[in-house]
Amino acid sequence: MSPNGSDTIIGDIALTSVRKKPEELRSHRWYGVNDLRSFGHRSRTAQMGYHPSDYMGKPVIAVVNTWSEINSCHTHFKQRVEEVKRGIWQAGGFPVEMPVMTLAEPFQKPTTMLYRNFLAMETEELLRSYPFDGCVLMGGCDKTTPGLLMGAISMNLPAIFLPAGPMLRGNWNGRTLGSGSDTWKYWAELRAGKITEDEWKGVESGIARSPGHCMTMGTASTMTSAAEALGLTLPGFASIPAVDSRHAQYASLTGQRIVEMVWTDLKPSDILTSKSFDNAVTTVLAMSGSTNAIVHLVAVARRAGVPLTTARFDELSRVTPVIANIRPAGKYLMEDFFYAGGLRAMLAELGDLIDGTQRTVNGKTLSENISDAEIFDDDVIRRRDNPLVPNDGLAVLTGNLAPNGAVIKPAAMEAHLLKHRGPAVVFKDYADMAARIDDEALDISADSVIVLQHAGPVGAPGMPEWGQLPIPQKLLKQGVRDMVRISDARMSGTSYGACVLHVAPESFVGGPLALVKDGDFIELDVHARRLHLDISDAELSTRQAAWKAPKRPFERGFGVMHQLHVTQADKGCDFDFLEEHVRADSDEPDIH
Ligand code: FES
Repeated sequence: MSPNGSDTIIGDIALTSVRKKPEELRSHRWYGVNDLRSFGHRSRTAQMGYHPSDYMGKPVIAVVNTWSEINSCHTHFKQRVEEVKRGIWQAGGFPVEMPVMTLAEPFQKPTTMLYRNFLAMETEELLRSYPFDGCVLMGGCDKTTPGLLMGAISMNLPAIFLPAGPMLRGNWNGRTLGSGSDTWKYWAELRAGKITEDEWKGVESGIARSPGHCMTMGTASTMTSAAEALGLTLPGFASIPAVDSRHAQYASLTGQRIVEMVWTDLKPSDILTSKSFDNAVTTVLAMSGSTNAIVHLVAVARRAGVPLTTARFDELSRVTPVIANIRPAGKYLMEDFFYAGGLRAMLAELGDLIDGTQRTVNGKTLSENISDAEIFDDDVIRRRDNPLVPNDGLAVLTGNLAPNGAVIKPAAMEAHLLKHRGPAVVFKDYADMAARIDDEALDISADSVIVLQHAGPVGAPGMPEWGQLPIPQKLLKQGVRDMVRISDARMSGTSYGACVLHVAPESFVGGPLALVKDGDFIELDVHARRLHLDISDAELSTRQAAWKAPKRPFERGFGVMHQLHVTQADKGCDFDFLEEHVRADSDEPDIH
């Protein structure tokens, strides 16, 4: 967190040059003109108890809130939205809370990923169709961050992101627990008979004990940190724990800042560049962030008109050390990361790997925002000359099994599997795997390669986080804790293991993963970035010709739109008709 005062955090208003006049505000078209429709807008605003002095000539700010009673990570947003509004009022704006679809990772089925694009569409359309001049985006739980950013970037009104903040460390019997990571760990221990049912219940009650998003380096911590590195949050905000009083203070400062961003017309298109996306990718890599960030950042970048590719992740991965010592790749949790100096300190330590000239929402450059940052515990945030892993936080693989790429997280797998050759054990879908994985008669050993088909963007549907395929119970009992596993699914960022993910194109649409049979040998070579199905090209062609497209899963509703328009993992899984960057003033509603 910045040790500076709030003026430094939210930027120096006196430095700003061109300022809008009130009649140039977008909301002026609803409120400021004198005709029949504006009469309706004003009279109905009066109906809500507001006097014209509350809103006339002032920036109207949408506070886009993903709070709901089913989103356990956002329970504090009911209070935070009031603090954001306080800041907006203080700065002379008019706040309007806009509830949007919540994407509650633990509860929404089949997966929140199916609905990320729904949230993006909802955000964009709300901003377009109502009299907003700017917006505060309140998110944090996994897909909420990319969903909100994608929608706001496409609309391109001034926008600032409010990260939910990580929850406190989990605690049980004197031990620290990390979201997800320790769930998988103790679930494996339970299945192996190493802990009792009573102990398992203790883990259940202590692993999530405060508001806030997962406090391991899961998708939430990864994406909120990426949003800050992109320049879309106040500096230091993404690392502050949700229940820390400074989180509330920053919520208010965020409200103050968006009003000034409207007057100076500071939009996402003024902030987001290929270099700012490189900064975000480098941040993800230095944190050994969630593999999900690849899909999300590619989608966010394409909304911004930046052609970010998975190959760019791999290029930057080769030169970026992992210096955030956070689970699952490391030892600590996000609360420790904050006390050690937070993201600002980590970005400062990355030095020339970060382009500090990039603009941010407070009107300053990234360099200016981190110039006074310090590391207070260099075991939590390692120095560059003492990294957790020297490089390869993530790796992008290609080969005849994944012509358009696949992803693996070398920092979170057993090193002896980095180069591996083994016979495939194939499951045709999740139900097949659930039914047979623990069958004592299953012909499988620690050298086998577990393959799951039909778990991608179209087929599963929605590319669920099934990619940490379970290790068979009989192998767990023999002490096996990691195996090579391959799927077109995603994996929770809190997970670990030699899991090859995001295989593209996916098996459901005829990608080569669909053609693997039991006993085929598969070769993984992470250093060579290679994923190879060891059968002849002629045999591969024969199997391809015999492949038949399965029936698509949806017959009605949003799912039909999804299965017709979702792109593959290497393109970010956005809808094909939403990828282009569209400026706000090119598609405005005709309100008169
Ligand atoms: Fe919300 Fe993990 S469940 S961030």
